[in-house]
This record gives sequence, C-alpha cells and structure tokens, in this order.
Amino acid sequence: MSDYVTVARDGEIAIVTIDNPPVNALSFHLRQPLHAALEELRDDPSVAGLVLACAGRSFVSGADITEFGTPKALERPSLPDLIATLESFEKPTVAAIHGTALGGGLELSMGCHYRVADASARFGLPEVKLGLLPGAGGTQRLPRLIGPAKALKIIVSGNPVGTKEALADGLLDAVFESDLVANATAFVRAKAKAGEKPLPISQREDRIEAARNDLKRFDAEAATLLKKSRGLDAPARCVQSVRNGLTMPFAEALATEREYFIELLQGDQSKAQRHLFFAQREAAKVEGVDKSVKPRQVKRAGIIGAGTMGGGIAMSFLNGGIPVTILEMSQEALDRGIARIGTTYDISVKRGSLSEEAKQERMALLAGTTDYADLADCDIVIEAVFEEMAVKKDVFGTLDGIVKKGAVLASNTSYLDVNEIAGFTDRPQDVVGMHFFSPANVMKLLEIVRGEKTAPDVLATALDVARRIAKVPVVVGVCHGFVGNRMLAARSAELEDLLLEGATPEQVDKVFTDFGWPMGPFAMGDLAGLDIGWRTRKSLGKTAAIADALCEQGRFGQKTGKGYYIYESGARKPVPDPEVAALIEEKARERGINRREISAEEITERTLYPMINEGAKILQEGIAARAGDVDIVWVNGYGFPVGKGGPMFWAEQEGLAGIVERLEHWHGKTGKDVFEPAALLRQAASGGGRLSGVKTSRAA
Ligand code: 3HC
Ligand code: NAI
Repeated sequence: MSDYVTVARDGEIAIVTIDNPPVNALSFHLRQPLHAALEELRDDPSVAGLVLACAGRSFVSGADITEFGTPKALERPSLPDLIATLESFEKPTVAAIHGTALGGGLELSMGCHYRVADASARFGLPEVKLGLLPGAGGTQRLPRLIGPAKALKIIVSGNPVGTKEALADGLLDAVFESDLVANATAFVRAKAKAGEKPLPISQREDRIEAARNDLKRFDAEAATLLKKSRGLDAPARCVQSVRNGLTMPFAEALATEREYFIELLQGDQSKAQRHLFFAQREAAKVEGVDKSVKPRQVKRAGIIGAGTMGGGIAMSFLNGGIPVTILEMSQEALDRGIARIGTTYDISVKRGSLSEEAKQERMALLAGTTDYADLADCDIVIEAVFEEMAVKKDVFGTLDGIVKKGAVLASNTSYLDVNEIAGFTDRPQDVVGMHFFSPANVMKLLEIVRGEKTAPDVLATALDVARRIAKVPVVVGVCHGFVGNRMLAARSAELEDLLLEGATPEQVDKVFTDFGWPMGPFAMGDLAGLDIGWRTRKSLGKTAAIADALCEQGRFGQKTGKGYYIYESGARKPVPDPEVAALIEEKARERGINRREISAEEITERTLYPMINEGAKILQEGIAARAGDVDIVWVNGYGFPVGKGGPMFWAEQEGLAGIVERLEHWHGKTGKDVFEPAALLRQAASGGGRLSGVKTSRAA
C-alpha cells in the first residue's frame, strides 16, 4: 500500500488500483510500490485472480515523460520488470481500462492475460510521436495479440483506436457500459473458477504465424506506412522491431526493442519531439486566463466569406460537430463555396478516410445565407473576407449592429491590425484574431491574436473552440504578420538575392528539403501561386526582379504548368527549367552582379538565421510569450521538421553564439536589417545560450 497504489480484496480476487494524477504515468515513485504489491499478490495463495485498475480520469497513459533524460527513467523496477512480474502470474489477471491506455499503459495492460474496458476507452502506442518506439514490449506483444499488420499501423501512426476496433481485433476481451471494476472482478472470478490457465501474450504464436512465412508482404505494408515518416528515425525503428518479432525468439526481440528505445531516447530527434509535447501544453496556458476564467458557450458559429479560408474554417467546425452558418455576398458565390466544401468531403469519402454517412452528418450542420440577419444568434462569428481594411471595416461594423451581445467576433486576417478592426465595433473586448492556416480544414495551427482590449473570457473561448475543432492554439500579440508570417517574411527576404548572386531554385530548395522541410520555398511558391505575391507587391509599390518577370510571362506556378520550375502535363514534380536559369542570369547581368558558387551553409545562414533572429525580436516585444510557442507555430503551421523541434529549439541546439556571429558577419557585409542580431538573441547567446527560459510578460 502507498499513496500511489492500493490493494483491495473482493473475496479471493485482489484489486490493485493505481493513483498517480493527472494521467497515472508510470513514474518511479509508482513503479516501486506497484512492483512490490504485484510480487506479493502473485505469491499469495489466497489470491485467485487479479484486477489492475486506475483511479482518476484515465488508465495509465504511459511512461512518465518528465523522467526521460534523467536517471529515474531507467531505474529499476523498470516498466519491463513490472510487465514480467505480471506475466509470471499463474492465476488469471485482467486490466480494467477507462479513459486512455497509452504507451507504457497499454504495454502494462498487455502484461495481463485479459483486457476489459469502458465503452469510451481508447488504446494506443503514441511513442513514435515522441521520437521513440514502445520500449516495454509493445512492438512484441501487440503483434502477438492482434496480428503484425494491424499492430504495425497502430505503432507507426501513433494514433489510438476505440473499443469497437479493439474488441474486433482481439486487443480487448470485453466492454462494459458501467461498473467497470465490479464487472472486471466478476470477469476474472469466472476465469479463475473455470480453472483456466491462459498463456501470457509473450508465449502466443497464433497471430504471427502467417506473417512469419510471408515477410515480403510485411515489408510491403511497412514500406507504405513509412512513406510519411520524412527523415525521422523512430518510425523505421518501430518497423524493424516488429519485424524482429517475426524473425527472432521473443526474448531476443524484446531485448533488441529495449536497445532501440534507449538509443532513440538519447537521440536528438526524441529530445526535440519531447520538447514539442510539453511546448504544446504550455502554449495553452495564457497569462491572465487561468482556470477561473470560463469560456463563453459556443453552440453555433457564423463564418463570413466562403472562399479558400472560409470554406476550410467551416469544415473544421463541422468536423468538430459545431453547426455553421456561412455568409457570402451573392447567392452564386455562396453556392460555389458550399459546393467546394461538399467536393472536398467527397474526396475524403473516395479515399476511405470518411464515411458517406459522416459526410452527410457534417453537411447537415451547414447552412448558407446572404443575409447578415441570419448570423444574429451565432455565438462566434469568424470573418474570412478579402484582406482589405475597408472590407473588414464594413463587415465588423455590420456585425456590431446585428449579432447578439456577448458573441465572439473574430477575424482571420493574415496581416491587418486586430486593434483597428476591434475599433470598428462598440465591443472591442469581444474581438479577437483567429488566424487559421491554409488548407484550414487540414492545418493544425491556430494563431489566436490577442488585441489590446480582448477580454480574458474571449481568449478562453477561442482556446476552448480550438480544442473542440482539433486545432493547436498559440496566443500571439498584434504586429504585422503575427508570429508565423512575420518570421516567414524574414526567411524569404534573401531568396531573390541568393538567385541573383549565383544560387539556383533547385539548389536552394534542396538545402531546405535536406534540412527536413517537406518542400523548398521556390517549389512552395509554385504550389501556392506566384501571382498572389505579385498582386500584393504591386499594391504596395514593391518589386522583385525574378518573381515579377516570371509572372509577367504568365508563369504563376503549378496552376499554369510553369513557375520557378516546369510541371510536365499536370504533374506535380518540379523540373528545373533552363529558361528560368537564363532569366536569372539576365537579371543578374542587368544589375552588374557577377554570379558565383553559393554553398549550402550560406543558403542556410541567409534564410534560416534571419528567421530565428525575427523570432527573438518577437519574443523581445512580447508578441509570443515563450520560445516554445514560436516552435509550435512553425511545426504546426509551416512544416518545420518535428525532429528538429522548431526554429528556436533548433537554434539553441546549434549554439546561439555561433548564430549571432554569422548574423553579424552578414549584417556587416550587406547592411541589411534582417541580419542585425536582436538584443535578446545577443543576451541569450552571451548568457546561458538558452531562449527557452525567456518568458515575456504577455502576448499582446
Ligand atoms: N508523462 C508525464 N506527464 C504527462 C504524461 C506522461 N506520459 N502525459 C500527460 N502528462 C501531463 C501533461 O504534460 C499535462 O501536464 P500539465 O497539466 O502540467 O501541463 C497533464 O499531464 C495533462 O495532460 P494533457 O493536458 O495532455 O491532458 P489531456 O487530457 O488533454 O490528454 C493524454 C491526456 C491523452 C494522456 C495526453 O496527455 C497524452 O497524450 N499524453 C502522452 C501519452 C504518451 O505519449 N504516452 C507514451 C509515453 S512514452 C512511453 O510510454 C514509453 C514506453 O513505451 C516505455
Ligand atoms: P478568398 O478570396 O478565397 O475568399 C474571400 C471570400 O470572401 C470571397 O469568396 C468573397 O466573395 C468573400 N467576401 C468578400 N467580401 C465579403 C463581404 N463583404 N461579405 C461576405 N463575403 C465577402 O480569400 P481567402 O484566401 O479565403 O482569404 C480570406 C481572409 O483570410 C483574408 O483576410 C486572408 O488574409 C486570410 N488568410 C488567407 C490565407 C490563405 O492562405 N489564403 C491564410 C490565412 C489567412
């Protein structure tokens, strides 16, 4: 008995209850008493069966991630020790699962002979999302329980499954609608009475037999799953470990799994991904919005503008089960917008990622209108109209006169001043920026822009809505481009000059993809459409020699088959174009630039370092509250490689002093502002070399 583990008896059945809030993680202080209790019960002849259950909101949700990187993580009794002890029970054992059984939690349950659960429970091995593989037998026992193909999918994706699937696959033995522990006790009592001597999972061979004789098929399935793993080590290790279970004896495969786990645990990628896990949770904690601030109730959302963003935002709400009224200027634009939403769902149905029934349910939550009066009862209205202050003024002025008091009025503006927009209403406290990323139904990031007058409960509502529609929120302050687009502008500033001075689009893009980005900036420009930037430049009276010349030739990117690259007959693969190379040379000649060899290091220094520098300025100004918030923006909104933990984390690992030195070098050489090191960056570099400790007063 301890604070973390209690043992109760129901006749001859022992009930062990774990209680380690908030998520019953397997911390050392829990492992110790749990191990002692299990050994005692195993050897107690008066015990005929065991129920392993948890107090609080959930079953065990994994190893204690805060222990990773400390000696406690591997201190014995380890999680494998606990599972081995469970497997040595000669009387039946059952895990009674409510909430989530994740990672080490699911592995612990697989030390039992049986698993039963509440109808709403979920099961998964999310270690891969922390840059790890399941390190306590998950890659060995799950395949033996449900077969290697299904296990591999769960392990490599890291995504949990529900009770329906778990029961069908054999992961679960029974589901109970209520009284989980009492039912689990009756379940194990019946097994004990029947005198059953079930095999521990480690000794079961029936589900892996077929795959052992068909490794080719296993390899093909694994290759498909690995396609999305983009330079990360953990997914490949997951596959290799499951495969080892088919080619090695259990004990050897188990020991190898542990070796892989320790190797990954000590590697840079897992360190980065663990940083992101905690940063994401920190980002949801906002100064001035503690638990006492309750979100306003949101039962219906209004969306203005059914264009690219409005449609995607509407889908996010529909996916989260929140009814939407979408407004457009004309019936024609409205019909077009709604049809596009339907077509996007149809693609998911065709791909098999959405059922026709689910599509119909979502579409039934959608209403369209051209009349503002229909938005009167909405609890939140999000504006996604043209990016012009005059249009925003018109929309917010109209909303102010129509929408009920207490509703949240949000703008999806990319760059405009949210304080000015709030000033178009008589209720600036209800106005907030909600900046989604394109495609809004897919991208996880939501920048919540806190205006000077935004009320705390409006921020709390935006955070709550973000959670309900499965977005990752980061609260930021008002400035041109907020966090993401402002840093993007700093990253892009040198691209034209690099080309003029001697680099090629494909060379620059390769530096980016080698770093781990899904795409380089030129391929990205072609995908997004070069005409967008061209139009913006024209409206601001700005020019860009090469990009403008491409647009003047009608080369808008993929949509016209030509941009920085050529796209052959509708293909998406960028092919370098000698005409573009000639154009770049011509523009350089016109400017009297002697083109030269440009190294990969130079490209990195002139694109990535200004972005980090801008991130430091953003922290300095309190536009973002923490360096981790900036990392969350970049990983979830712009495809910064997760294995590198975001730009600020990466910069710390690289060494801030070296980055400052190279920024100074480029500043001296070019005199450009983007290279002038931020005071905060200099300070952090000459101090402990850390940005992560910097906490600015508030994002506003
Ligand atoms: N270890 C330590 N702390 C954890 C934790 C863990 N495994 N899981 C969650 N926490 C902490 C969070 O940091 C947060 O702390 P805070 O309140 O101080 O910010 C608190 O618990 C609550 O977490 P959430 O805010 O995420 O709560 P939710 O209810 O939204 O989600 C959850 C709960 C689904 C369990 C989610 O926290 C989660 O996914 N946790 C991680 C699960 C995981 O990755 N498990 C595998 C760990 S690795 C492992 O098991 C290795 C093994 O194979 C050897
Ligand atoms: P879009 O041009 O695709 O859609 C705008 C829609 O708003 C059009 O359908 C138009 O008919 C409608 N509209 C214009 N004025 C209106 C009014 N007064 N009332 C009702 N409807 C009106 O534009 P997009 O790309 O969807 O952008 C919308 C907003 O989202 C802009 O503020 C933009 O800066 C922002 N944004 C855009 C992103 C992108 O990648 N496209 C990313 C993040 C934000």
